[in-house]
Amino acid sequence: MEQLLRTYDLTKTYKNVNVVDKLNINVARGDIYGFLGKNGAGKTTTIKMIMGLSKVTSGEIEIFGSKVLDDKYHGRIGSLIDYPGFYLNLTGEENLEIHRRMMGFAGKDSINKALEMVGLKNIRGKKVKHFSLGMKQRLGIARALLHHPEFLILDEPTNGLDPIGIREIRELIINLNKQYGITMLISSHILSEIQLLATKIGIIHKGRLLEEIRYDELQQRNRHYIQLKVDNDKKASFILEEKLGINDYVIWEDGLIRVYEKLSEGWNINKTLVSSDVKVDEIYVTIDNLEDYFIRLTGGDSDV
Ligand SMILES: Nc1ncnc2c1ncn2[C@@H]1O[C@H](COP(=O)(O)OP(=O)(O)O)[C@@H](O)[C@H]1O
Ligand SMILES: [Mg+2]
Repeated sequence: MEQLLRTYDLTKTYKNVNVVDKLNINVARGDIYGFLGKNGAGKTTTIKMIMGLSKVTSGEIEIFGSKVLDDKYHGRIGSLIDYPGFYLNLTGEENLEIHRRMMGFAGKDSINKALEMVGLKNIRGKKVKHFSLGMKQRLGIARALLHHPEFLILDEPTNGLDPIGIREIRELIINLNKQYGITMLISSHILSEIQLLATKIGIIHKGRLLEEIRYDELQQRNRHYIQLKVDNDKKASFILEEKLGINDYVIWEDGLIRVYEKLSEGWNINKTLVSSDVKVDEIYVTIDNLEDYFIRLTGGDSDV
């Protein structure tokens, strides 16, 4: 798989503190990479280094297979980092035109195209001061798309939006990825927003990457299981294997077994264990949800 972005021990130090600390992330072509971390975790700093807006203290960044990051490479990336500023008395189209000329991007038709891509084509005559926050955010994304980037980096694009605005941005991100094949890196401090769109998730905490995992693997990890509380886990696991043919299980902790298969056969598992003199204190089907998973990882509240 072609990697569009890789970082190698990427580090940023402010006043002797590594706010980004030996970070190794990998974004493959086609990914929607969810870059998840609490406020202050180091997301914006990382993104600024990737975009060449903040100096790297140590480590390396590789974009499109190159570690020489001149404008040619940044020209293939679009980004929206800070809250997008616009001339409020001008229309969205006029704002984009100013940006296009300032940046020296060719082709005026790119404006129409960008407005179409973000679903703002029909509000051409409207001044930005009459835009909702969600529309401004979409206009900011349109601006980031003007030069037809292959890779789009959005720093907390749903910040401050209401649930409808959040959903619109989410659908837009998915559409840009699916329909236009744009690889995305989306940062967020809200797990529930990321999990609905990411194909891969990187979790940053205090500047460190705690985990990088494909979403489908994560779901595997967070699947349903039967939890068994028994007095003798060694004996119970022997019975699970020998008498019930169950191999997909773990001894989670002393006396606690998680069985990931034959979920509808709890009664039979219970009966078989009991008849083999294993005391079963608890048996129930449950799921280790994503929320639990992240809380365990970051050791904090659910607002990751
Ligand atoms: N210019 C700066 N000077 C000093 N400290 C900074 C600067 N920018 C960010 N930081 C600190 O770096 C840490 C990470 O910040 P940031 O990358 O903005 O986190 P996030 O985007 O995940 O909320 C925070 O503790 C923040 O206070
Ligand atoms: Mg930030």
